[in-house]
Amino acid sequence: MDRLIVANWKQNPSTLADALTLAAGAAGLNVPAGVTVVVAPPLPYVASIGQANPFLVLGAQDLSLLPPGAHTGEVGADILKDLGVRYVIVGHSERRALGEMDGNVAAKAQAAVESGITPIVCVGEPRGVREQGTEAVKMFLTSQLASVPDGADVVVAYEPIWAIGSGTADDPASAADIARWIAGLLEPRVKSVRVLYGGSATPENASAFLSDPAIGGLLVGGASLDAVKFGAIVNAT
Ligand code: PGA
Repeated sequence: MDRLIVANWKQNPSTLADALTLAAGAAGLNVPAGVTVVVAPPLPYVASIGQANPFLVLGAQDLSLLPPGAHTGEVGADILKDLGVRYVIVGHSERRALGEMDGNVAAKAQAAVESGITPIVCVGEPRGVREQGTEAVKMFLTSQLASVPDGADVVVAYEPIWAIGSGTADDPASAADIARWIAGLLEPRVKSVRVLYGGSATPENASAFLSDPAIGGLLVGGASLDAVKFGAIVNAT
């Protein structure tokens, strides 16, 4: 299975012109064999970016858990699928901080799978839990991982909350141990699982995370907004 390097642009950039420039940078990268680059722009840009870059693998940052119908403001898996979206991030800690619950994350991941989109289910512990030790982290993650759908090809992004956007990434060996444990927990009930690491991934630390085969790629926030840095991360693999 290819390693995935996923660009999570979050609520950036603020113009379509800048988004198209950033996307063209990602589409023009020389990607090493065995690596797939996925770009997850803000939703309103997805169609234009897909049209301008037909070979770019598109992701979305969220989706509705509802079926098509009278749901003002919602964008469901069927719409994403039609736009060419292949991966969708669900349960990012920034969405959980706004009130997203595990049950919603599970419904969204299931809706994605039913539409043929691979969910990237985000899990990760807050600092207070990490300070209680590995068993506390595993207990915390176990309840979040219940949201991963059975029988599907899934991606899990392990993103310790304290590492996201902080400039302080996790220790690569410790992240790899958790990634191995997550895969072991899920393998009996999913079709396939890849575990990504996310949280202050940079060109400087990417190789250290990717050197352990338990880490199946990276979910990159801040550094994905800089074409040079993102290119260096893709080539660190
Ligand atoms: P970061 O974000 O790389 O800026 O820490 C990662 C993420 O939130 O997915």
